[in-house]
Amino acid sequence: MTYDEAKKTLEAAGQGHVLRFWDKLDETARAALLAQIEALDFAAIARMQGILADAGKPVNAGSDFEPAPVAELGEVAHASAVAKGEALLREGKVAVLLVAGGQGSRLGYEGPKGAYPIGPVTEEHSLFWYHTRKLVGLAKTYGATVPFYIMTSETNDAATRAHFEANGWFGMDPADVCFFIQGMWPALDPQGKIILDTPGHIFMSPDGHGGTLAALDRSGALADMARRGIEQVFFFQVDNPMVEVADPAFIGFHASQHADMTLKVCLKRDAHEGMGVVVRRGDHFAMVEYSELTDEQMERINPDGTLWLRYGSPAIHVFSYDFLRREADKDMPLHLAHKKIPYVNDAGEIVKPSAPNGYKFEKFIFDVMPNAKTLLNLAFDRTQEFSPVKNAEGNDSPATVRRDLQAKWRGWFAKNGIDIPDDMPIEIDPAYILNADQLRTKGLRIG
Ligand code: UTP
Repeated sequence: MTYDEAKKTLEAAGQGHVLRFWDKLDETARAALLAQIEALDFAAIARMQGILADAGKPVNAGSDFEPAPVAELGEVAHASAVAKGEALLREGKVAVLLVAGGQGSRLGYEGPKGAYPIGPVTEEHSLFWYHTRKLVGLAKTYGATVPFYIMTSETNDAATRAHFEANGWFGMDPADVCFFIQGMWPALDPQGKIILDTPGHIFMSPDGHGGTLAALDRSGALADMARRGIEQVFFFQVDNPMVEVADPAFIGFHASQHADMTLKVCLKRDAHEGMGVVVRRGDHFAMVEYSELTDEQMERINPDGTLWLRYGSPAIHVFSYDFLRREADKDMPLHLAHKKIPYVNDAGEIVKPSAPNGYKFEKFIFDVMPNAKTLLNLAFDRTQEFSPVKNAEGNDSPATVRRDLQAKWRGWFAKNGIDIPDDMPIEIDPAYILNADQLRTKGLRIG
């Protein structure tokens, strides 16, 4: 793109100010800025400007919904779901999709969140170590590859790949690990203008975990799934090392009902826990975020004393490949967040604002839910599968995650008749032992 082309395009979109420091830029900076402008999605920017009018309006879910039904599998249904899921794993029809493009700002860790060392005994074992070792364990157990698709962002892609390389891909064949980069978007000021964070650079931020769909398609990852004959895709977030990756019961339940999407849901810690809830509105399902609920809705009690909205979603899903394919090229709704965004003032100086001054836009993966023809929710026991690293301290911090991981493993030993004292550090490599049954059949190693 030439300077004249950039100028024309920007002016047509009311964004001519992006070139206002052009005369002060050297050749390299000019080329980089032109490349940024060329990559801008002006149709998306126009949509963003359209929703700026909603900024500041409280988002609330209204009252035209009810909690979605949640399945709990009895012994027989569980056994049949496991059999179906295991058959799909044996046939190599299951892939795993991890979204790891986030910025992890609450944790405040330098580097990709997935590289965060979380091992209770072997400290350097990262979140990625746990996730990937589970795929190695699944491949050994079922005798078929489970390909791993990992979404990164421009900010953390190189560091994520370097972490895998430096750790020998955690035992996986690199040919079965596919990184793909999510999209980045500019932020807008309240007047809908693109924000420059240096005189020659447009401030950009990741387009949200909903960016997965378009990025899967654009990168060729969806085509790769098709080539491999993938039918079901297990989706999860980078921060939860307790997750039962490609849990056969979950995959099997979803597949046997021919669902487009199935979500794992668990009982909320309390009425105000910050989790999304799955609701039914008319003939479709949707996610309502906790920030969209009134106190009354969150605290409402059923006649049997349980919470009306008692199940929350930790973002553990299965999608059918066909559904992902159908959704991949659709526009998704945009959500805006008021944020502090560094910017250059007219003197070309960089300013770090102390209050929110602009809007970042994100797509959310759960916005595909209303398009699902069949959508199911399956209850699970959070003590066994959910403990995320969100914060540096307190709830959902590294300390609580290490505690919960070890409690889970102690439970596996207890099931096999062995008591591990609470003060004895413990760690299990999922490439060898994926569950309590494997602990029994593969022999016990304590260390
Ligand atoms: P969170 O909403 O917890 O955000 O992401 P985060 O970036 O990890 O952490 P904070 O909020 O800045 O502290 C949930 C999951 O979605 C992924 C994250 O990597 C995480 O696995 N995600 C989020 C993306 O892949 N891309 C995004 O643009 C946003």
